[in-house]
Amino acid sequence: MKMSEPPVATMVRLDIQNFTLSRGRHAVLDRVTLSLPAGRTLGLLGESGAGKSTLAMAIIGLLQAPEVGLEGSLRFDGEELVNLPETKFRALRGSRIGLIFQDASAALDPCFTIGQQICEPLKRHLGLDDEQAVQRAVDLLTSVGIPDARSRLAAYPHQLSGGMQQRVMISIALACNPELLIADEPTSALDVTIQAQIMELIMNRVRALGSSAIFVLHDLALASQVCDDIAVLYAGQIVETGPASVVLGRPLHPYTVGLRSCVVELDSEELQPLSGNVPSLSEMPDGCRFCTRCPHAIDLCAQERPPLETWDGRQVACWMVDRLMEQA
Ligand SMILES: Nc1ncnc2c1ncn2[C@@H]1O[C@H](COP(=O)(O)OP(=O)(O)OP(=O)(O)O)[C@@H](O)[C@H]1O
Ligand code: SF4
Ligand SMILES: [Mg+2]
Repeated sequence: MKMSEPPVATMVRLDIQNFTLSRGRHAVLDRVTLSLPAGRTLGLLGESGAGKSTLAMAIIGLLQAPEVGLEGSLRFDGEELVNLPETKFRALRGSRIGLIFQDASAALDPCFTIGQQICEPLKRHLGLDDEQAVQRAVDLLTSVGIPDARSRLAAYPHQLSGGMQQRVMISIALACNPELLIADEPTSALDVTIQAQIMELIMNRVRALGSSAIFVLHDLALASQVCDDIAVLYAGQIVETGPASVVLGRPLHPYTVGLRSCVVELDSEELQPLSGNVPSLSEMPDGCRFCTRCPHAIDLCAQERPPLETWDGRQVACWMVDRLMEQA
């Protein structure tokens, strides 16, 4: 943890309240409410198309009006990010908020050397001179396991392997000691043999800096290992959120139960595999968006959206949660 910060539990780094992001008439994110305390890591889970990347992009200001409609509130250290001018976002991105994307080769600029791409934010955001920036770049690359880092500064991205490029992107994301790291599937483009190693590297750096982090992940086992908290997103709505051990250990929402069933042992009595598909945005039900696939749905589910309420140590949005808890 950074020495100047108050204890972890007292600070909310990111406070998302009733945040809705629309494309045309359709809410891709529907009244998302989430809170990320300082120093904690949150895993964002959900099927393809759930809106995980959309939320990540909105937090860093890469989706703004008029391209999309924004309502509600996204506060980073108390500062409202909804409709924040781009000039102010630029001061946050790469300094106080670090970004790691799935595809390093797309995120790194092919026209600039690794050294230029790491040193530029160090000079711009931390005010380092050329020599100091180079020294810090060498230290950063070394800390993420890049051998002979000084000579790598002159390399262009295409001269490095995918794993090395990902390490460079991690160095850039963490160069300015960000208070918040957003990592959207940081290892899924990599060979499985180095995925765990890269994830460990990111986690070591995040823990050492005391940063908060949001990880978009598909792998529930990995999420339970590296994330303090979990938020499960279904068709743009948060359906269950809370400590990872609670949400993934004893899920209550039928969608979380289904997601977990996809990875538990096949002979498990809990097996309730997900059937069907997410409805298209134009066919989304008014109430609980999971009602077209839910084995427990009642008439009310399609008509009225269940509120996110605290049950058994986590928050769940489901009309049937009390009855499901009795059965559990
Ligand atoms: N540029 C775009 N234009 C129109 N619709 C988009 C665009 N990008 C995403 N969407 C839609 O927004 C919704 C959320 O997409 P998003 O990429 O955030 O999902 P995701 O949870 O990150 O999925 P994945 O796990 O596949 O990465 C989907 O319905 C998707 O079709
Ligand atoms: S609100 Fe209804 S449809 Fe939605 S998860 Fe609960 S029981 Fe299923
Ligand atoms: Mg995505």
